[in-house]
Amino acid sequence: MSESCGPRTSVKKTTVTTLASLKARGEKAVFVTAYDYPTAVFADRAGVDLILVGDSAAMTMLGHPNTLAITMTEMIVFARAVARGALRAFVIGDLPFLSYQVSDEEAVRNAGAFLVAGCDAVKCEGGARVAGRVRAMTDAGIAVMGHLGLTPQSLGQQGGYRVQGKTLAAVELVLEDALALQAAGAFAILLEAMPAESASFVRERIDVPVYGIGAGPDVDGQLVISHDILGNFVGDIRPKFVSRFTNLDSIVTDAFSAYASAVRSGDFPSREHLYPIEPAEAAAIAARKSARHERQPAPRRIPHVHL
Ligand code: KIV
Repeated sequence: MSESCGPRTSVKKTTVTTLASLKARGEKAVFVTAYDYPTAVFADRAGVDLILVGDSAAMTMLGHPNTLAITMTEMIVFARAVARGALRAFVIGDLPFLSYQVSDEEAVRNAGAFLVAGCDAVKCEGGARVAGRVRAMTDAGIAVMGHLGLTPQSLGQQGGYRVQGKTLAAVELVLEDALALQAAGAFAILLEAMPAESASFVRERIDVPVYGIGAGPDVDGQLVISHDILGNFVGDIRPKFVSRFTNLDSIVTDAFSAYASAVRSGDFPSREHLYPIEPAEAAAIAARKSARHERQPAPRRIPHVHL
């Protein structure tokens, strides 16, 4: 390959090998969601290791009540934007509901579409029951992350957003699922909404990196939905396991209110916002304006119509 075909910058891209080395060194991976170019650029600049283009975009970006309604077409728009912004972070496209459940062929085609969009890997929900699909995708050369515990695409089966793996019997099932995904070639497993003890139990028995979202500290890295830590999630969900690191909701609302007041009071735009013009041209325009006013015909009388 000639140099002109090479990467755009000298930034070193995070790969599955980098992620395995982080785990081997006992270093925590930092993992957030992003759905747009600016957020991806900010997260990447801040040194985030992994970015998930989550199907949570259905809720955070599109205002749906859950993740089920988002389509592949919508996900690919978000994925392309994020991939353009993330020069260093490892970008994972989240396979939406019905994009991999139906057949191996659809799973491979849809996962492939995320790679064409610039993602480094895909994620899908479910354990042993999707292990065949995971094998089909990994056989096609696609890096796949498994997702266990609370799996929002199975909202109906799980009876809502409920903590999973709360008993030994339940966590043993999660472990079986994790082993099935690992055997099918998954490069990592994500555990969502589980007690810390249960997540730790799974992680100790799995070789690939195990990341957590609401699964306590004893995992190889932490995922959060970026809107939750930034405080710009418009919905009612306030997860217990996440801290707000800023309050973009009030910052953004205050900025819009200040703008609205400035427009209404006439304070905006002010002199410093105006494009300059040569004084002679300004005078010519003013003269033409006043000449036009002088030539204005008398206002037309509107005939009175009886209805
Ligand atoms: O879509 C998403 O953001 C996710 C996380 C909640 C794990 O799948």
